[in-house]
Amino acid sequence: MVSQGFVVASILIFCLAGSCYGKGHFSSLKRTLDVTASPKEGQVLVAGVDKITVTWALNKTLPAGTDSAYKTIKLKLCYAPISQHDRAWRKTEDDLSRDKTCQHKIVAKPYDASNKTVQRFEWLIERDVPQATYFVRAYAFDSNDAEVAYGQSTDAKNSNLFEIDAITGRHSSLDICSVCFSAFSVLSLFFFFFIEKRKAKASS
Ligand SMILES: *[C@@H]1O[C@H](CO)[C@@H](O)[C@H](O)[C@H]1NC(C)=O
Ligand SMILES: *[C@@H]1O[C@H](CO)[C@@H](O)[C@H](O)[C@H]1NC(C)=O
Repeated sequence: MVSQGFVVASILIFCLAGSCYGKGHFSSLKRTLDVTASPKEGQVLVAGVDKITVTWALNKTLPAGTDSAYKTIKLKLCYAPISQHDRAWRKTEDDLSRDKTCQHKIVAKPYDASNKTVQRFEWLIERDVPQATYFVRAYAFDSNDAEVAYGQSTDAKNSNLFEIDAITGRHSSLDICSVCFSAFSVLSLFFFFFIEKRKAKASS
């Protein structure tokens, strides 16, 4: 609940900052990056405990200079279709500024076009990652911070998907917390209301 509220708030701030007006479309990006994620197909990982190692490299079959505009690589954790079903807040949109497939940033790294070795990043899954089925996508950004290419750890047949489980108990303790806070605020409202009434009575 808390993290979803936070996501909504950040999206709103993003929109207000004027970044919501479209740059790229996913369908116009070329798939030039070979991306792998360490979890085995169907593996279940635990947020806040397990790590994912992501590798990326330019596909070697492409002509030289393909990556000349790449400045940054951003790795993201993306919802698999099975975890998007009936959830508008995770919906895939071709307009990348509205796409909600890949909401969890893993890392951003500068791209070095002169270094063709496979790049690697190890990520401890953040605790606020919701329970769902995922894959990893890498976006290449140019110097204008626009997406120009991508790569991902899955394919059209949805292979190599993995699951992330939330730490058990986390949600219930958060829920208890928010119930306590709500009860407290209602009680204090009544308390002050009562005090005010007494004051009013005493002064009349
Ligand atoms: C590189 O691209 C080719 C052509 O799209 C593809 O067949 C191949 O699987 C890719 N290489 C890797 C390692 O993904
Ligand atoms: C190329 O990338 C690898 C992997 O990140 C790194 O270890 C190596 O130092 C890099 N080489 C150069 C010349 O930057």
